Parts: sequence; C-alpha cells; structure tokens
Amino acid sequence: MQTACSAPSVLFQFIGKTVAISGACGGIGSKVAAMFYEAGANLVLIDQDAFLLAQALLNFPERARTVVCDQSQPAHIDRAVQEVGRVDIFINNAGMVMRSPLFDLTSRQLQTIVEVNLTGAMLMAVGMARLMVSQKSGVVVNVCSQHAFCAVKERAAYSVTKAGLAQFTRTAAHEWAEHGIRVVAVAPGPVDTPMTAGLTSSGGRQALLDHIPLGRFSSAGEIAGLILFLSSDLASTVLGQTLIADGGYVLA
Ligand SMILES: NC(=O)c1ccc[n+]([C@@H]2O[C@H](COP(=O)([O-])OP(=O)(O)OC[C@H]3O[C@@H](n4cnc5c(N)ncnc54)[C@H](O)[C@@H]3O)[C@@H](O)[C@H]2O)c1
Repeated sequence: MQTACSAPSVLFQFIGKTVAISGACGGIGSKVAAMFYEAGANLVLIDQDAFLLAQALLNFPERARTVVCDQSQPAHIDRAVQEVGRVDIFINNAGMVMRSPLFDLTSRQLQTIVEVNLTGAMLMAVGMARLMVSQKSGVVVNVCSQHAFCAVKERAAYSVTKAGLAQFTRTAAHEWAEHGIRVVAVAPGPVDTPMTAGLTSSGGRQALLDHIPLGRFSSAGEIAGLILFLSSDLASTVLGQTLIADGGYVLA
C-alpha cells in the first residue's frame, strides 16, 4: 500500500493487482471490469452464465479469465473461490431485484432474494477474504443500494438484503482490519442498467426521476468510478462505510 504522501496518480494504481468481480456481465459489473482493465488490473470475471462470461471475455484480449458461479448455491461459491485462487480486490456486485407488496410476498420469493443478495454475497466476501489473509492485504467492495437507507413500498425484500449487506460491511471491516483487509460499500440509487431497463414511465421510471434532486439516474460508469476510488489507496483509511451515490434520492 502507498502512503498518503504519494501522488494521487500513484495511489490510484491497479497494475499487477488481481481484481475479481461478481455479476461481471451486468450493467455495473461490466463497467467496473472495463475500468479496472484500463487501469492495468488482471481480471477475474465471475457470473452465473457461462455463455455471457465467454462473450464478456472477448472485451479483454489479455489479463482476464472467467469463473462460473451461481451465488445462491454455497457449493458453487466454494468452488469459485478455489478457482479464483488469489485476489487483491473483490467487487461483490452480483445481485437481483424483486418487487412485491408485502402481503403478496411468498416465502420462496423471500428465500430466493436472501440467498442471492445476502447469504450469497456474504459467503462470497468471506471466501475471497480467506484468500487475502495470507498476503495480509486486500479490499472488498460490497455493492449495496440506496434502498438500504430509505423505505420504498413493494421493495421490502430487496431493501432488507441490501441493509443486511451494509451491516455486514461494518462488521467485516472491523473483524478483518487486523488482517490488512479493508471492507467498504457503495450504495447506488437508480442506475441505467439492464436491472432498471424494464421501468417504463408508467411503471415507475418517472416517479423515480421526480424523487431524485439531481433529476436523472446515475450511469454505470459513475458507479464504477466510485468503486475504483474506494478500492484504491486513495481510500486507504475508509473502513466499513457505505458511500451513497444516488443523485440525492435519500435526501428528498
Ligand atoms: N441498477 C440499479 O439501479 C441499481 C441500484 C442500486 C444497486 N444496484 C445493485 O448493483 C448490482 C449490479 O446491478 P446491475 O444494475 O448491474 O444489474 P444487472 O442485472 O445488469 O447485473 C446483475 C448481475 O448479477 C448477476 N447475478 C444475478 N443473480 C446471480 C446469482 N445468483 N449468481 C451469480 N450472479 C448473479 C447477473 O447475472 C448479472 O450479471 C446489484 O447488486 C444491484 O442490486 C443496482
């Protein structure tokens, strides 16, 4: 790790670092991968779909490999961690969204989203952090959501998984600091990605825009840039925090 006396360009270096990204084929994950690649990192692209991973790999002529993992399955996670083998930075980004009034939410639906967004994300972070212990350094960036910090109707299941991940961020940061592992999180507001592509004006997009003081969604690139900043030595004393990037959504 560089010290705070180093120049920003030195602190913001990823050459020779191995960065593993879950949900690497999605809107935010693919931008994160592209930015780390530009910054010289070696990539491990993790996602549940082997075909999409093979497509994604075409964007990176060198310094990249793939690992297939459905993170709702603990056995997949164990195997994926073994395949990753060594990692400096883990971007814990894979996730799913669900919308349902609480009275209609089935136990199966709730179990599914908890398995992916919370249990799966926690097990992924623990597995990657185990790989970092022997090198006495590493960074885990969890991708939460502004829904962890506000109450939106019909989003209870999603919100509790992301609030749980924000709390995990605090606890893991505290527990793993002695191993030189830094854990932080980013909480995006609405971002233009495949996850929000289905939102029509009548289906909620305009209502979201009306609620964002900045008046627009974030781009995947804006969130990816923040993730690179939090992963870098520029943020070397940021531990356990979840940085909200939502155009002011939670202020309104
Ligand atoms: N798009 C938004 O508005 C927004 C806002 C706040 C937070 N987020 C969070 O950002 C992260 C990335 O979202 P995105 O907008 O890029 O969505 P996306 O749908 O484009 O990408 C999600 C990725 O996660 C992967 N994934 C889903 N379930 C998985 C599983 N069981 N195992 C392994 N991989 C799985 C998908 O294959 C996909 O590549 C998610 O955690 C999401 O909750 C998104």
